[in-house]
Amino acid sequence: MPGTKVNERVSVLRSVTQVVSAQALLEGGGFPVRRPFPTASLSLFDPFLLLDHLGPVNWAPGEAIGAPDHPHRGFETVTYLLAGRMQHRDSAGHQGDLEPGDVQWMTAGSGVVHSELPHPEFFASGGVLHGFQIWVNLPAAQKLMAPRYQDIPAGKIPTSCSADGKVRIKVIAGEALGVQAMIDTVIPITYLHFTLEPGARHLQPLDGDQNALAYVFGGELLAGAGDTRVSEGEAALFGAGEGALLVVPEEAEGPAEVLLLAGRPLNEPVARHGPFVMNSREEIEQALRDYHDGTLG
Ligand code: FE2
Repeated sequence: MPGTKVNERVSVLRSVTQVVSAQALLEGGGFPVRRPFPTASLSLFDPFLLLDHLGPVNWAPGEAIGAPDHPHRGFETVTYLLAGRMQHRDSAGHQGDLEPGDVQWMTAGSGVVHSELPHPEFFASGGVLHGFQIWVNLPAAQKLMAPRYQDIPAGKIPTSCSADGKVRIKVIAGEALGVQAMIDTVIPITYLHFTLEPGARHLQPLDGDQNALAYVFGGELLAGAGDTRVSEGEAALFGAGEGALLVVPEEAEGPAEVLLLAGRPLNEPVARHGPFVMNSREEIEQALRDYHDGTLG
């Protein structure tokens, strides 16, 4: 039955249930970010707690800013830099530089106190800073795990490409077109950066139990079974199903740049207080006490 397979495939295609516009705001003393969530109308997209599109901002010499010492507990912060140069240091002595294309997957777990600042040379020279930071929640059983860093330079991020060359993918987490990421995640997470040329068509298989979204930061995308139009600065939230379809029309003026995020929802209570994300009010109070006592991180 030649038609059956096509119908089966279509029946599991996800549709876009909501398109949210990123809110523009100034973070950490004046750093411009665009934030699809958390917002007043979308507090989280389980298991993702935050998606920040950093810049792009063109800093004059001596003007670049970042985030000085601050704590985290109970989740992971993932920084993916596209342009510029950052420097990361934590209270336990870990230090690392982030260059364009690099990824830092930091599992704060029981606690990290760190700074995320422009690299001194970048601060002096100025230039364009552009990237992303996402926060991934940890399950209750792993919220107090030992902190862990996965600092992956751009050259070691696996890439894949479609046979027609119109779909190029940086596989930060998960798998795409048979290429497996090298980053190890606590819960199954897919984090893909797509560059989709005009005429590109990609069906990304995803487990049916995962929440999935596509954030467009360049060009325009048609997403999901209904070809929902998603513009720059918008995130498309996919509904139930398996495959997520990403299409760029042949007549598009240029490529679309898209982040695809997917993960299995934790479905646990979320108690959130700034840089601490736990399951209960009591655990937040404990985190605040530990931070003040100097025993966090
Ligand atoms: Fe941080």
